[in-house]
Amino acid sequence: MKQYVGAIDQGTTSTRFMIFDRSGAEIGRHQLEHRQIFPASGWVEHDATEIWENTRKTIDAALTGAGLVPSDLAAIGLTNQRETVVLWDKASGTPVAPAIVWQDTRTSSMLDTLDGALIRSRTGLPLATYFSATKVRWLLDNMPGLRARATRGEVLFGTMDSWLIWNLTGGKHLTDVTNASRTMLMNLGTLDWDPDLLAHFDIPRAMLPAIRSSAETYGEALPGVPIAAAIGDQQAALFGQTCFDPGDTKCTYGTGGFLLMNTGSSPVWSSHGLITTVAYRFGDEKPVYALEGSIAAAGAAVQWLRDQLGILDSAAASETVAGQVEDSAGVYFVPAFSGLFAPYWRPDARGAIVGLSRFHTAAHLTRAALEAICYQTRDVVEAMAQDSGTALDRLRVDGGVTANDLCMQLQADILGVPVSRPAVAETTALGAAYAAGLAVGFWESVGDLRANWREDRRWQPTWTAERRSEGVTRWRAAVDRTLDWTM
Ligand code: G3P
Repeated sequence: MKQYVGAIDQGTTSTRFMIFDRSGAEIGRHQLEHRQIFPASGWVEHDATEIWENTRKTIDAALTGAGLVPSDLAAIGLTNQRETVVLWDKASGTPVAPAIVWQDTRTSSMLDTLDGALIRSRTGLPLATYFSATKVRWLLDNMPGLRARATRGEVLFGTMDSWLIWNLTGGKHLTDVTNASRTMLMNLGTLDWDPDLLAHFDIPRAMLPAIRSSAETYGEALPGVPIAAAIGDQQAALFGQTCFDPGDTKCTYGTGGFLLMNTGSSPVWSSHGLITTVAYRFGDEKPVYALEGSIAAAGAAVQWLRDQLGILDSAAASETVAGQVEDSAGVYFVPAFSGLFAPYWRPDARGAIVGLSRFHTAAHLTRAALEAICYQTRDVVEAMAQDSGTALDRLRVDGGVTANDLCMQLQADILGVPVSRPAVAETTALGAAYAAGLAVGFWESVGDLRANWREDRRWQPTWTAERRSEGVTRWRAAVDRTLDWTM
């Protein structure tokens, strides 16, 4: 009897393959980073071929490292960075352009030409450069001959899940409903491509994948091993945190930060700047929906200090460097590199560091970056409370940044509620493994999965209410200074 399930986690900065046993414990992993390409200010690209090659290599290396062979796996689940656009040639399977990443803002001037009310009512999404549709349109408008070829079905579109499934299965063109819900082209009610939106964006249907559920067998990924789940990474983390009941909420801190609340079998429309999205769908069952607060730059703020300013040796060093000072001494860092997402939705915002004097050091700046992650999370937690009418009493967290204990303490301080980290912090990969395992009967029910969830650590708030409120006021004043920056 097969004892393991594998998961591909194709994220914004790296791709990993993880192997889990029936208790949800990690048995093996391998991870490879890929290049972040910044051809112009506001542009962010990936090489889809590099990502596919990394995917193959991580699968091989993780299996070898764990002393396993493909036939030890009952199934493979796939989870991925969402919204990022890949266009490829159907005949050769080669990308026809660099992948345009979700953080890319090159399409901001297109937003004025679009009907925000129509888009929101059909997709649950605010008008923003974040989602796939404007990026697909930009490629079709800017690459000579591409629209005609796409109309003839010679050029295909997919988010990373589609691109990897195409390659893993030798040419199946499909996506899952969670990824499709982020394209800005899927109707949240019908769960199919919306003809009015396709016309509005001038995107030919022939280039779009078929929309399938998040957990079913799509094909064979390795000899005898089905690929049996595809689910956007934030939805996968919700799943991995076993947030199966309405009201269950988690926050994942990766390159961006993403707070999702399970809202059950009907979509809840936000009036406070959140996104309505599909959480998951099992086979033919009814879909489960979520409210989401998306933060464009969370770990990205620390990556920027490391890669662009060179003041940190590693992202992990941010904890010791920020820990050298008691507080940020009045410095606020708003990492609006890709504009501001939830709850502001201001593509015209750009990053700012305010409150500097000659006293300040790299330690203050680093601490301000960690605080920015936490203040942004507080902004979406407040919006979630207003939309749902329920105040959060504890935040379940996961993702790379949660290894930073100082940041998690700051999060509890800035939110004023406890923050709880599970024993398996890799809930994104775990969620994809769970979905695939359920699809093939490796796990019987979500009850089995709930029993696997264990708390690793909990942080209690220590700030006084006065300190918290002063910090929030100053943070919002800093946010105001980043608006209207791009013309
Ligand atoms: O919507 C973008 C999101 O899916 C990216 O996630 O973890 O790569 O920052 P992450």
